[in-house]
Amino acid sequence: NAIVVLISGNGSNLQAIIDGCAKGTIPGKITGVIANKASAYGLQRATAAGIATRVVSHKDYSDRASYDKALQQAIEGFAPSLVVLAGFMRILTPAFVQHFSGKLLNIHPSLLPKYQGLNTHQRAIDAGDTEHGCSVHFVTEQLDGGPVILQAKVPIFPGDDASTVAERVHEQEHLIYPLVVRWFCQNRLQQRGNEAWLDGN
Ligand code: GRF
Repeated sequence: NAIVVLISGNGSNLQAIIDGCAKGTIPGKITGVIANKASAYGLQRATAAGIATRVVSHKDYSDRASYDKALQQAIEGFAPSLVVLAGFMRILTPAFVQHFSGKLLNIHPSLLPKYQGLNTHQRAIDAGDTEHGCSVHFVTEQLDGGPVILQAKVPIFPGDDASTVAERVHEQEHLIYPLVVRWFCQNRLQQRGNEAWLDGN
């Protein structure tokens, strides 16, 4: 199971998946990590783990379609059976999403379908929510709208700010993302249209 991970920043979710592969809980191997920014700290995490990296900068391309085509080619260069978006802060074209359909995962820091888009923690606090969380889903053409595979909930306490909530959610992200990747690599997980299917043991 070759896995390619796409990042834009810190890469703590990438790290959780690297660790899962190293421990053997994920029966797969990350063959490449691709970032759209050379400054993404996750590239250093990948290098430290002996994983090949590439930067495909959106600044080198005039439009979304040509960027996504270059990105697609870079990904295909690592021959993945699974593509994992882990804090990859780019909107992807329908052509890209269709190309990787059924093997493209994302993690979103909210209890989808609530709070698609950005600033999810602050929005949950502002709405007076007492619970919040994160969702792993298959990526479809609908932004943050693909079928949800697994969610984790966390409480929001009075006096919390966006950063304390983000930290609480992150802890859960690092548990659920490797678990979903594990299921996929065990061939137990499938996207069927707008549904996610998980086979029992
Ligand atoms: C996570 O909160 C994830 O849900 C969101 O971007 C963040 C990435 O964090 N899509 P990291 O780079 O994995 O630390």
